[in-house]
Amino acid sequence: MKKHQTIPVITVDGPSGSGKGTISRMLARELGFHFLDSGALYRLLAYAAGQRGIALDDEPALVKLSAELDIRFPADDDSDLVVLGGQDVTSAIRTEQAGRGASLVAALPAVRQALLERQRDFRKAPGLVADGRDMGTVVFPAADAKIFLTASAEERARRRCNQLKELGLEPVFEDILADIKARDERDANRPVAPLRPAPDAERVDTSGLDIPATIERVRNLVKNHLNQ
Ligand code: C5P
Repeated sequence: MKKHQTIPVITVDGPSGSGKGTISRMLARELGFHFLDSGALYRLLAYAAGQRGIALDDEPALVKLSAELDIRFPADDDSDLVVLGGQDVTSAIRTEQAGRGASLVAALPAVRQALLERQRDFRKAPGLVADGRDMGTVVFPAADAKIFLTASAEERARRRCNQLKELGLEPVFEDILADIKARDERDANRPVAPLRPAPDAERVDTSGLDIPATIERVRNLVKNHLNQ
């Protein structure tokens, strides 16, 4: 771990729809840092399990699968391109189904453990912005700056509906809201790495904030921490 000690890490945690994907990606780009979308790893695992007929509660098989997966993020910070075994799965892992599957496999302790080092390996010079649920609490507990983004469930459901509409889909608001609440519940109450802010995280509620206002606030918080 010594080689990592001087490489800065910024963690951005929070529930889906809090804006953390957009904000952390922008932050990584601004700072010229690498970017880890840890949710994509859980989504990839759920997706690959589905393709191979592995049940999403078959912990030993999922652990084995997580070690075998050939995952690449070829564009690093600049796009969300995800390649699994040479196949572009960028859109396939963004479906609601893959999100639900990710949340199920993410509740399994051995699966989280299996993905731990894989996530830490993303810490490379000149620095890393890591986006997820447990980046500041479990994966990078000694991070240089920790941000926890929140937003009300309704606001997050609205944002998700807009995203799905942009993809040409016709989402039902109530269904999306129910799904978000169910996933929040599962993520917050699982025994391993539940979704909660690290004690030393800076909390930002993005409910009434647009993207420029949020990035401005986050940028200032991060700057203060990196200069300390
Ligand atoms: O962030 P995203 O919506 O892509 O994550 C999908 C699911 O993966 C989340 O609902 C959560 O259950 C799980 N996850 C996690 N820990 C992370 C990132 C994602 O448990 N660090």
